[in-house]
Amino acid sequence: DWTMANFIEMEMEKIRNEVGDRNVLCALSGGVDSSVVAALIHKAIGDQLTCIFVDHGLLRKHEGDTVMETFRDQFHMNIIKVDAQDRFLNKLKGVTDPEQKRKIIGNEFIYVFDDEAAKLENMDFLAQGTLYTDIVESGTETAQTIKSHHNVGGLPEDMEFKLIEPLDTLFKDEVRALGTELGLPDEIVWRQPFPGPGLGIRVLGEVTPEKLEIVRESDAILREEIRKAGLEKDIWQYFTVLPDIRSVGVMGDARTYDYAVGIRAVTSIDGMTSDWARIPWEVLEKISTRIVNEVDHVNRILYDVTSKPPATIEWE
Ligand code: XMP
Repeated sequence: DWTMANFIEMEMEKIRNEVGDRNVLCALSGGVDSSVVAALIHKAIGDQLTCIFVDHGLLRKHEGDTVMETFRDQFHMNIIKVDAQDRFLNKLKGVTDPEQKRKIIGNEFIYVFDDEAAKLENMDFLAQGTLYTDIVESGTETAQTIKSHHNVGGLPEDMEFKLIEPLDTLFKDEVRALGTELGLPDEIVWRQPFPGPGLGIRVLGEVTPEKLEIVRESDAILREEIRKAGLEKDIWQYFTVLPDIRSVGVMGDARTYDYAVGIRAVTSIDGMTSDWARIPWEVLEKISTRIVNEVDHVNRILYDVTSKPPATIEWE
């Protein structure tokens, strides 16, 4: 009968039979699906797997470190980290339209991945974290739009890889259980949904290093306080956004003219609809106070109280 341990044994054998003595390449994003795929394939074939982790500079605080600590230091995987922040920021310079930003980030991912993959020899297979639901639900508008943006594992066009998709019979909760069984940390297994374009669509309008810093630091404070309050499991997604507005404030005797930071926290079953999370006021107060005190150039905090629809979860 079906147990996770049996599934792992069977999949490992399938992978070994298919791959033989050849090599597999995997694009690791730090998300649940690609992490679980990498861990599973690594368990099956060890050093015949090479992972490429593109850090686009749009990740949350410490996220890149967690990926490297887990896969390089703990699992001892062949993993190549590409620090591509400048490349992405250059491409995003002057760009304000959300869909254009998504397209640029998605395409740049492929280019960076391609460049790195081209340096490697004898890569025959490309591993992807495709789930059962990705196949079944890919007919809906939203899923397609999201998929087209989430190009991390996209197949480079001019390369001839055979695909390996060992998660394509699983649902999300099974993938999480598999991840835990394979020894992945909760931080990765229970990561809240995070868009492929990352903080690039949480800085509204043009993305600059200064604005990324504000959204990254404020988001880290929000996450820390949500965790301390024990609310992580009750909230589907929680993050900060940086709208492109400044307003007047006062600090000591002086007027300030600085940014407002928005807090978005929603409850949801599947991300298709959502309600705003009723975070206790004391928790909100703590978050607000900490962000204005600890993050430079922020003097006002907004809490988003709209459901989806009519709003979306993200602000872009
Ligand atoms: P919205 O903002 O449309 O988001 O209510 C629904 C879910 O999708 C995520 N999302 C994205 N995921 N690339 C992704 O991989 C994207 O461009 C993207 N935009 C939104 C969002 O975080 C939420 O979980």
